[in-house]
Amino acid sequence: MAKLAHAQWSSRMTFVLAAAGSAVGLGNIWKFPYMVGESGGAAFVFVYLLCIGLIGLPILVSDWLFGRRGQKNPASTMSELARQANKSSMWAVVGISGIIGAFLILSFYSVIGGWSLYYTLNSVTGTFSGQDADGIGALFNGMLSNPGLLLLGHSAFMLLVIGIVAQGVTKGLEGAVRILMPVLALLLVVLIGYGMSTGHFGQALEYMFNPDWSKLSAETVLAALGHAFFTLSLGMGIMMAYGSYLGKEINLLQTARTVIIMDTVIALGAGLAIFPIVFANNLDLASGPGLIFVTLPLAFGNMDGGSLLGLMFFLLLTFAALTSAISLLEPVVEFIEERTPLSRVMATVVAGVGAWALGIAALLSFNVWSEPLMFGMGVFDLLDTLTSKIMLPLTGLGAILFAAWCLERKSVEAELAVSHWRKRMEHHRALCSARGCHRCLRHRLTLSRYGPASWRGCSITRCF
Ligand code: PHE
Repeated sequence: MAKLAHAQWSSRMTFVLAAAGSAVGLGNIWKFPYMVGESGGAAFVFVYLLCIGLIGLPILVSDWLFGRRGQKNPASTMSELARQANKSSMWAVVGISGIIGAFLILSFYSVIGGWSLYYTLNSVTGTFSGQDADGIGALFNGMLSNPGLLLLGHSAFMLLVIGIVAQGVTKGLEGAVRILMPVLALLLVVLIGYGMSTGHFGQALEYMFNPDWSKLSAETVLAALGHAFFTLSLGMGIMMAYGSYLGKEINLLQTARTVIIMDTVIALGAGLAIFPIVFANNLDLASGPGLIFVTLPLAFGNMDGGSLLGLMFFLLLTFAALTSAISLLEPVVEFIEERTPLSRVMATVVAGVGAWALGIAALLSFNVWSEPLMFGMGVFDLLDTLTSKIMLPLTGLGAILFAAWCLERKSVEAELAVSHWRKRMEHHRALCSARGCHRCLRHRLTLSRYGPASWRGCSITRCF
């Protein structure tokens, strides 16, 4: 990417797809449902939605804003912007900790990518057909207790990621995202339909949307906050790197809204697909990272056309995981490439093999190395907790503080086109009040909420 430093996304749509490709992944389909299950349901969902809207949105916009101004890798962008603002170059720490976070996440993300590959294979061989909950549970536990199998899946997944990033073809993936993301959404709709046929859909809705606030604890809030960062790929410089290819004319708020809606809809859809199956089969809500791997195969094994749907689903899940994993490796590679004499290919191999090696420790924590290592957790849980609950929120907070303290308010407003909207609104208001028009109030509100794009639909002449 570094060599494309001043290239730009060909259109807003391409950019939205690339950002959504990074955001939508295992976090939505694998992690969100099991976190809801572990944290007790709707209370978690509500805090999560609040975190997405109140914290995720501004951080996503500031990441893009920094990237668009800095035009470099996250660490260099932060130090460059700090230099321009006459502030300490220590702000680069925010960028560097983001890069380290991306590296750590990639290591265990690839292990789950490997599970998804293995389940794709199982769909091809028809393993799920006619199985009951015990059979599917045994398949999952069999996989977990087999380090060789986990290593094979993890290695194959990481090899794919390294291959794609080394060739620098990441931008070519948007075309695929454009087609595959809607297909994934459609499959979730089919699975939700299956959930409805189990007779437990109402219970699932209740579980996900009717909060029992007594289940809310500081731990749940932190988990929801951390997951909001994880699912939107925030706090790792990834969105910052994407923002560096963003043209000035793109409306950041509007674009962020689109990406956030896509991401949230897929996560909620995954929950609505999974929980009816959990209730219908009396499965354990808090079964943790295995939740989708012990619920969805049950549905695929017992529905008409389930083999084909299962195959499509796990293929798409693997694809969604790949587009996210690529975006995790990219900033690490960019950093190594800029700071060392290594070529892109070598930088990719070094970063990828490093994350792969750490991933081995993570996968062993499911079997031979299952005793807790620190704070009662094994390597997998430690990596997940350290990144989601500590590094991502802190780095995100750093980004917000940076925007507030180091960037001039005026210039940020200019970038968000705030003054442009304000001027148009004032102009509009003046015209309206001069002619005693009341209907314009509606347009004024639309304008202040949605910016210039909605202005286009609001013709002043209509008001008179
Ligand atoms: N957002 C991705 C997901 O939900 C994971 C990810 C995290 C990707 C951080 C990039 C950075 O699966």
